[in-house]
This record gives sequence, structure tokens and C-alpha cells, in this order.
Amino acid sequence: MSVSSLIRKRKSCRAYTQQPVDLEVVRSLLETAKWAPSGVNHQPTKVAVLGAETKTRLSKALVEKFDSGAISNPDYEYCPDSWSEAYKNRRKVCGRVLYQTLQVSLEDIEGKKRHKRRNYDFFEAPVGLMIFIEKGMPKGSWLDVGLFIQNFLLAAEDMGLATCAQASFAEYPDVVREVLDLTGVDIVCGIAVGYEDPTHPVNSYRTERESVENFTSWYD
Ligand SMILES: Cc1cc2nc3c(=O)[nH]c(=O)nc-3n(C[C@H](O)[C@H](O)[C@H](O)COP(=O)(O)O)c2cc1C
Repeated sequence: MSVSSLIRKRKSCRAYTQQPVDLEVVRSLLETAKWAPSGVNHQPTKVAVLGAETKTRLSKALVEKFDSGAISNPDYEYCPDSWSEAYKNRRKVCGRVLYQTLQVSLEDIEGKKRHKRRNYDFFEAPVGLMIFIEKGMPKGSWLDVGLFIQNFLLAAEDMGLATCAQASFAEYPDVVREVLDLTGVDIVCGIAVGYEDPTHPVNSYRTERESVENFTSWYD
């Protein structure tokens, strides 16, 4: 499939079958993703590949933290209150349509929590990745991590694998660091990797994009 087709076909998958993913396949995806460009080729992305045992331990610890009502304390800000109206609106639409797909009403706090909780188990995907970066790295390095992530998502799509990038894992970074025995790093996000469950309604959710005119200025 062409790169353009892969880019258009990829979507975030939030329900997986239990078909296992060979870790050698994950290694080959990382072999591809690592060819992402980075400023002065400093290659700042770090990855933990989590098999079943660690994934279960991490999930349990995060669900406990989430259920305790603990306030999240991410290493970086993703959705600030200070966002302009346009970004806030897109965020709202994203959540509204997702919960509509799940037939969970916006007033249904418990239903929304139930869905949110599923994040911490990588939506039951057989493999989870954790993406992190050395503490104190500049914005440019975080940009490079994003390029690596997109490479990974597309390489997976090319192999018939489904994925979901998950900043949810960055909400309680101390828990992630403790379970994975990491120090001196910022937690960027997780990535669920597996085979899509096409029967689960959540996977019928497709997002829209703005028209090119809405984000472009053309100069002579
Ligand atoms: C860095 C990053 C973090 C994300 N975190 C989450 C997450 O925690 N949970 C989730 O369900 N989706 C998460 N997403 C998926 C986005 O909601 C999704 O990419 C967006 O709505 C566009 O939909 P699409 O990926 O299907 O094209 C994340 C995406 C990115 C790029």
C-alpha cells in the first residue's frame, strides 16, 4: 500500500482481539520507526516494550491510582484550559462522538470512567509500548519523538496491525516510572499494538479533519 493510503487508512483502535503479536514483528516495526528524522540526528525517542506480565502489573497499578481519585500530574501539558476556542471545540467533538459511538451519554460519569479505565489496559491489546524521553530535553526533541511515533503507527498499519497512541499513560508518570523501574525520564505516551476487533462498536469511530484552507496561508 502507498504511504499516502496508509496515512489515510490508519485510525486509533480502541478494542483488540486476543490474537497475540509476535515480539519479533514489534522489533521489526521499531527497526523501521527508528529511521525517523531528528534534529542533528540525536534520536531522543526511548521505548519500553511491555509483554503480558508487565502490562498487567502496570495496568493494575494505574487503575488503582485512577480509582483512588488521584489528581493526574503529567510531565507535560497536553490539553490546557488556555487553548483557543477552535481547539477546545475540536476536543469536545472528539469526546462527544466517541461516547456517542459507545452509547455513553455525556452525563454518564460512571460510563465515561469505565471507558477511560480501559486506556490503562491498552484497550486489551496484547502488546503495549511506553514512549519516554530523558528529562529536561528541549521542545525540539519532543517534536522528534512525535515523528518516531507516527513512523511506528504507519509501519504497524502496513503490517495489518492496529494501534492507538495513548497520552493517558502520561497522567500518572510516577506510577509508570515505578513499575518500569525508570529514572530521569519523562513519560510521553503509551501505544497499544494488536489486531483490531472489528465487531466492537468503538472501532467504528472515525474522526474528521479540517480542510486545508483552514490551516494554510499561501504566499507568493
Ligand atoms: C500523542 C497522542 C496521544 C493520544 N492519547 C489518547 C488516549 O490516551 N486515549 C485515546 O483513546 N486516544 C488517544 N489518542 C488518539 C486520538 O484521540 C486520535 O488520534 C484522534 O482523535 C484522531 O483520530 P484517529 O487517530 O483515529 O485518526 C492520542 C493520540 C495521540 C497522537
